[in-house]
Amino acid sequence: MSGGSADGVIERSALEPTALRAALAAREPTAAAEGEIRVVRAPGRVNLIGEHTDYNLGLVLPAAIDLEVRMAIVPTGGDRRVKIELLDSGERDGFDLDAIPAAADRWIDYPAGVAWSMSEAGLAVRGFRAVLGSTLPMASGLSSSAAMELASAWALLDPPELEAHGIDAMGLAQLCQRAENVHVGVNSGLMDQFASSLGRAGSAMLLDCRSLASREVRLPLDDHALVVCDSGSPRRLGSSEYNARRAQCERAVAVIAREDPRVRSLRDVDLATLEGFADRLDAETRRRCEHVIRENDRVLAAVDHLEVGDVEAVAQLFAESHASLRDLYEVSSDELDALVEIATSIPGTAARMTGAGFGGCTVNLVPRAELDRFADAIVREYRARTGLEARVLVVAAADGAGLMG
Ligand code: GLA
Repeated sequence: MSGGSADGVIERSALEPTALRAALAAREPTAAAEGEIRVVRAPGRVNLIGEHTDYNLGLVLPAAIDLEVRMAIVPTGGDRRVKIELLDSGERDGFDLDAIPAAADRWIDYPAGVAWSMSEAGLAVRGFRAVLGSTLPMASGLSSSAAMELASAWALLDPPELEAHGIDAMGLAQLCQRAENVHVGVNSGLMDQFASSLGRAGSAMLLDCRSLASREVRLPLDDHALVVCDSGSPRRLGSSEYNARRAQCERAVAVIAREDPRVRSLRDVDLATLEGFADRLDAETRRRCEHVIRENDRVLAAVDHLEVGDVEAVAQLFAESHASLRDLYEVSSDELDALVEIATSIPGTAARMTGAGFGGCTVNLVPRAELDRFADAIVREYRARTGLEARVLVVAAADGAGLMG
């Protein structure tokens, strides 16, 4: 099929369930005749605040967004193969459920990883044929990999199988995280899979990564729009630096735990305790820890402000979070800093980098009355400052992954 773009995105209309069903029916006429085609969907996410806190068992506040991955699928009965065709490029790939291949830095690693982690958990996964389309730009920091994983999970399993094993949306998110950590080999936290699985329309989702308790936080979107700006800049050193940050935090915890074995993660450490270890932790490590500890507090404060619609106070927290990610955690980039500076020149706008950093996107709450001015300033000034094209995406907070029927 044609009409695709470099980042794997196709027209929204091509993702309508009827269009997806027709695309698969053209390839699998018998299944179509028998009415066996199902459509599954899984959204990307944008994190409002709580960055690099999830793997430190802290707090995060992501929202699932209305940019998503969808697949029309038909289970293949006895045939234990999975075959998926990408609608934008026509590329096909697949694997055998009884001989799941090792990850090889390809998109099929995600469905294969989920099949592996589900099988390992004792779930009966089934083969299927599918066509896959996406409105979510791939590899731009909006969790296209988590969306691919959750859509695969819904394709691989019969809902009764989930019920029989008592697996809920959080359980699915954890199975998908395991696929990413162990099979794909990226040591990420739970936030992305959690958001893609448990998102609620109109809300961000507060997750306590230690207790796994979560709750909805309504977003004040009557007067403000939720906007993602894609920096269009390559994610330099993304996964190696990500893993390095994580390792630094874990080493700090190990040092502190030698003295106080009750400390299991940075969630159990406050600023005063951190200060007490100034002689045993180097300055860079202390900066990393300080970011994480303060960022958890900012998440709770942001929830309070969002719940009363005080976007001005949220803007202050976004600014502090961004500065901390730039100066203490050192995961921002010149491009992300430029996007935030331009955004905050528009009065009443909250802006910060979102996701892992080193490129990717910013998250913004923009007064609706200022949207045009905002978009214009971002595109023009960002181009002038960096020579790059930014993309401005007004998004809605969406429901988590599932069957569309
Ligand atoms: C990536 C990871 C998440 C989280 C963020 C940073 O998106 O996948 O688990 O750690 O970075 O907050």
